[in-house]
Amino acid sequence: PVRRVTVPQIAGRKGAPPIVALTAYTAPMAALVDAHADVILVGDSLGMVIHGLPSTIGVTLEMMILHGQAVMRGSARAMVVIDMPFGSYEESPQQAFRNAARVMGETGCGAVKLEGGARMAPTIRFLVDRGIPVMAHVGLTPQATNVMGGFRTQGRDEASWPAHVADAVAVAEAGAFSVVVEGVMEGLADRITEAVAIPTIGIGASARCDGQILVLDDMLGLSGRVPRFVRKFGDLGPRAEAAIADYAAAVRDRSFPAADQLYR
Ligand code: KIV
Ligand code: NA
Repeated sequence: PVRRVTVPQIAGRKGAPPIVALTAYTAPMAALVDAHADVILVGDSLGMVIHGLPSTIGVTLEMMILHGQAVMRGSARAMVVIDMPFGSYEESPQQAFRNAARVMGETGCGAVKLEGGARMAPTIRFLVDRGIPVMAHVGLTPQATNVMGGFRTQGRDEASWPAHVADAVAVAEAGAFSVVVEGVMEGLADRITEAVAIPTIGIGASARCDGQILVLDDMLGLSGRVPRFVRKFGDLGPRAEAAIADYAAAVRDRSFPAADQLYR
């Protein structure tokens, strides 16, 4: 079997070449991403993207494990990282270890990701010391949406930058092997990237981050409204809609099924 991308390989990618990361939630999409990406993230964004939830708050450990298993089956090369969902790790390092060990054990993924800066550093240290690689996530942390009053770009006020930089430094010093930097002012993302020895993976951050990640459905044009930081590399939504409309018309006018689709 092909050996997957390892944690030390990603941790060593400070600077060029940039780390290519994308989310995936299903086996067939994971197979497409696997051919091109270094990291596949089974993000808790799946709650909104796949399950129609209003935020990531309702995502459960069982959902993450089920989609994580599908993504592992569909991929062979990329490192698969699985998000720890809201409520599964914040209570204590022990709770985080118990649940992260389930995610690792039941899926075979390479690492977990959790949101939070300095306040999560002791938990990250606890997990890494016990064999669970952790990708950190700072800046805009969607699981805090109810506290922040929505999805707010971070670091608009430069006075807040030192605290954000301190968060990134804290998770790096706690042993995280990389850190997602989401929804921050470009200058702040650059400060963070300069301040930490581990690779930063940006989303709505800066082209100078050590890698980039996007939500797959967003960049494929399968989502409705997307944030400013998304570039639509594809336009699959309208194309899928057109195919479905063609099918409905063909059924109604009895042009489908035709000879090619029939056993005679
Ligand atoms: O859940 C997710 O998809 C994420 C990425 C956007 C970083 O956390
Ligand atoms: Na997430």
